[in-house]
Amino acid sequence: MVPPIVMTIPEIRAVTDAVRQQGQTIGFVPTMGALHEGHASLIRAARAASDYVVVSIFVNPTQFGPHEDYAKYPRTLEADQLVCAQAGADVIFAPRVEDMYPANSFSYVEVAKLGDHLCGRSRPGHFRGVCTVVMKLFNIIRPDVAYFGAKDYQQARIITQMVRDLNVPVRIAIEPTVREADGLALSSRNRYLSPAERAVAPRIQQALQTIAQRVAAGEVDTARLESALEAELMAIPGTRVDYAKIVDAEFLQPLTRIDRPAVIAVAVFLGTTRLIDNLLIGEPVGR
Ligand code: PAF
Repeated sequence: MVPPIVMTIPEIRAVTDAVRQQGQTIGFVPTMGALHEGHASLIRAARAASDYVVVSIFVNPTQFGPHEDYAKYPRTLEADQLVCAQAGADVIFAPRVEDMYPANSFSYVEVAKLGDHLCGRSRPGHFRGVCTVVMKLFNIIRPDVAYFGAKDYQQARIITQMVRDLNVPVRIAIEPTVREADGLALSSRNRYLSPAERAVAPRIQQALQTIAQRVAAGEVDTARLESALEAELMAIPGTRVDYAKIVDAEFLQPLTRIDRPAVIAVAVFLGTTRLIDNLLIGEPVGR
C-alpha cells in the first residue's frame, strides 16, 4: 500500500487518535526526507514492532545554521513515498513550515551539557532545533516508540535524555548505522559528493576502525588517539576536519583516558559536504 500523505496537524491527530482508540500501538520515524536505506531500516524496525507506523518528512528550518544547506537540502517527496511504501509505513506526515512554526512561536526545548561538544559546538543552535521539532512531533503524534539511527549518535543520546528529563511517554529505539558495501555510512548528504569525493569517503570509516584497533590493542590516551585520528582523516584528499574526538558514550564529555564506554566521533568536510560518523567502544550506555 502507498501510504497517504497528511499535511495538517488536526488531520494527523485524527488519524493517530483513531489508531490509539482501537488499542493499537504507534511506531514513529521522524525524518527530513531524502529517504535512503538507513531510513528504510528504521521504518522496517517500526513495522516489526508496532501496529501502526507513522513517518514524518519535514525539513526543519530551526536546526540549520544561517550558512548551512537548508535551501538546497534535497526534497524528494514522491520518491520518499515509495520508500515508505516498500518499508511498510502506514501514513506520512509532511507538514508545512508555517504550520509547525506559526508566527509568534517563542518556545524551544534545549538539553544542556550533551550538546556542548561535537556537532553542538560546530553547529550552534542545531540541537535546540532538533529537540524542539522532535518534541513537537511527539506531542502531535504521541507515538509509543520512536526510531533514530546510531549514525547521529549525539542526536540519539540527546533525544533519549530529553525524553527522560521531561517525562515524555515514548520509548526511544536506536537502530544500527546502515552502510554502503565499502563502509560509507548512508546519509541524505552523500548525494552531494562528486565521484572523486565519493571514492575517498569510505576512508572516514576506515580511520575510525584504525583508531578502534589501537584501543583494542591497549592504547587509552585520548590525546594521542585523537591526533592519530585527525592525521588519518587529513590524509584523505579534499578533506577538512571539523572535529575528531573521543568522548564518554553517556554524557559526551571529553575523556583523557578511555576508562569507560566511549564513542569515537568525527565530522569531516569533503569539499563542501559535511559528513559525520562514529564508532562505539564498549557497551551502549544511556539508552
Ligand atoms: O535526523 C534527522 O533527520 C532530523 O534531525 C530529525 C530527527 C528528523 C529532526 O528534524
